Amino acid sequence: MRKSLVRALGALAATMLLSTTAHAEDTFKIGLIVPLTGPFASIGRQVENGVKLFMQQHGDTVAGHKVQVIIQDDTGTPDVSKRIAQEMLVKDKVDALAGFGLTPLALASAPLATQAKKPMVVMAAATAIITEQSPYIVRTSFTLPQVTLGIAQWAAKNGVKKAVTLVSDYGPGHDAAKTFKEVFSANGGEVVEELAVPLANPDFAPFMQRVLANKPDALFAFVPTGLGSAFMKQYVDRGLAQAGIKLIATGDVLDDENLNQTGDVALGLITSHHYSAAHDSAMNKDFVPAFKKVSGGIRPTFMGVGGYDGMHALYAALEKTGGDKDGTKLVEAMKGMSWESPRGMISIDPDTRDVIQDVYIREVKRLADGELYNVEFDRIPEVKDPVKAAKK
Ligand code: PHB
Repeated sequence: MRKSLVRALGALAATMLLSTTAHAEDTFKIGLIVPLTGPFASIGRQVENGVKLFMQQHGDTVAGHKVQVIIQDDTGTPDVSKRIAQEMLVKDKVDALAGFGLTPLALASAPLATQAKKPMVVMAAATAIITEQSPYIVRTSFTLPQVTLGIAQWAAKNGVKKAVTLVSDYGPGHDAAKTFKEVFSANGGEVVEELAVPLANPDFAPFMQRVLANKPDALFAFVPTGLGSAFMKQYVDRGLAQAGIKLIATGDVLDDENLNQTGDVALGLITSHHYSAAHDSAMNKDFVPAFKKVSGGIRPTFMGVGGYDGMHALYAALEKTGGDKDGTKLVEAMKGMSWESPRGMISIDPDTRDVIQDVYIREVKRLADGELYNVEFDRIPEVKDPVKAAKK
């Protein structure tokens, strides 16, 4: 009797121990670091809502693990972003880092991912060199060279001979200006002046004056999402539209969240990019209203899609490893992975860990629901980041 009681208690203790360890081990923790305040808060909100929607649709259990997302606001400051990443890795013991709304934020944390050997899923930032900063980085957003080449080709083939470039003065802007000049020149065009505007609190007015003085056929522009409306206002107020200087840009300037605010001046403008809320697919037709439900009515932009797809990459990787959370194995699992995104089919380049995707040429139109959209009318299939492709 006594013996069996002892045995029963022993078994009970073992079960309790097992269930506590199982509980800790069963969690798959993702540290999501994004700007939720400051001038780039819209990027963080988009990514957050993309992540939320993915989990709502796919549940929070993957390969026997409960997925837990810890979200923190880095305010768009690289030092803060890095400190949060460090804390998440050391204190929270996250299995993966994700988010990274702007290039300087992604660059600040890259060495930490390498040290900790944990996947770092870049859902937003888009300077080409980012994935080269750590073998643990996988990117589900895009690169500026990847989306710029389309508009540069389109411009050269559609009567634009002289262009001025105007970009935000940091990584993605430099990538955009360089790619535009290379591709546009190779197709017979000429860039007559290259302008770079400070990223923080930009005053576009003096730069618009310089563009006017050059009398180009077109102005090619890149500013990060969130600054597009301010840029467009100056383009109109300074008389560039009236002077017949055609505006061409990457989709960052006319993103789906701000486009309606820009108003009718945007009608007819041509941009190239990898996602439009008007993308014509069954998946996207479900995605847009579902996203708006989660976001309180805000349309998804390419940033929301980057967050949504970043979660797909993590979920699918964990399934592929059979629940093994080892960071190196998870990154290996993501290499070469392909799936359908709201933007179309995408894959992770096994060599560069960057996303391979179709890039679309789009025109701003007012659709039947009364809203402005970038309507895709041409497609360049399966574009790799051209900078890394050229290095090989
Ligand atoms: C970036 O900082 O890498 C970035 C941010 C917003 C964009 C594009 C690039 O729209």
